[in-house]
Amino acid sequence: MVKKVAVLTSGGDAPGMNACVRAVVRSGLKNGLDMYVVYEGYLGLVQDNIVQVDRNFVSDIINRGGTILKSARLPEFKDEAVRKIAVDNLKRHGIDGLICIGGDGTFIGAKKLTEMGVRTVGIPGTIDNDVACSDETIGFDTCLNTICDCVDKIRDTTASHQRCTFIEVMGNRCGDLGLYSGIAEGVEMIITADHPIPEEEIMKTLIRLRDGKKKHSLVIVSEKTFPDLQAFVKKVQQETGIETRAQVLGHIQRGGAPSARDRILATQFGVSAIEALLQGESGICIGIVNNKIVHYDIYEALALPRNKHFNLLRIVGLVNR
Ligand code: F6P
Repeated sequence: MVKKVAVLTSGGDAPGMNACVRAVVRSGLKNGLDMYVVYEGYLGLVQDNIVQVDRNFVSDIINRGGTILKSARLPEFKDEAVRKIAVDNLKRHGIDGLICIGGDGTFIGAKKLTEMGVRTVGIPGTIDNDVACSDETIGFDTCLNTICDCVDKIRDTTASHQRCTFIEVMGNRCGDLGLYSGIAEGVEMIITADHPIPEEEIMKTLIRLRDGKKKHSLVIVSEKTFPDLQAFVKKVQQETGIETRAQVLGHIQRGGAPSARDRILATQFGVSAIEALLQGESGICIGIVNNKIVHYDIYEALALPRNKHFNLLRIVGLVNR
């Protein structure tokens, strides 16, 4: 049975990570565990940036964006010798369970630690929603709402000037933020890496809209879909004669107070992670599927196909454009 458990946040920060840290710490303490936090993700494990905490440590953070534990990306963690330092540090503190909040990369790190004898649980915390074993990840809902706020504003000026604006949203290689925000904003086109639209069709659609009654248009583009969005937008303007702009929303999407939905999801995940460790589970990640909390072996979870949005794609075909 685990007695001392640590929690860390890793990879890109996501609103709701703090709420999750709070849930982990509070429910761990309630279950009689000694609770620790690791600063700066896997880097903090390697550098022994590990501190024991009490319940007050996580007071007043449920509403805060970012992560109070800080985050880092550490490609060197792929190296077994580097991981060995982390494992030794955990052993020195007597920590026998580790909860890692992050995305796919974070989970791979956790699984590797499991193979070296540390009990781990992964919690999906990323704005990208790119963890296949969960319908939703911590931060996705808040980020989606932030994108919608931004697009609402961009719409005003786009309409006033009768322009076309291409808006690039984050998501790494996952098109969910693009797809969901595009539907929520009713934009004219949604272009993601997994559902690209051929250049010729993009031009034709914009011309058709301009020649009809719609004098302005919005296009949502997922990052990593166009190698150079500014250059593409220039081409659109040249070929269609429509005044066109590109807006890259950038890191504003990752900030801000978490939505109520993200706070609740984060709390459910945090409590479930502690329960999993207490039940002797390890090398797993938590998810939510059809409103039920589920546990998956991490490797199994990473191998799952990502075909969750079939119904949404059908809607796009009917109402956008
Ligand atoms: O994984 C979250 C994310 O924001 C991605 O959407 C984006 O591709 C990446 O992180 C940006 O990373 P960084 O903040 O390190 O530039």
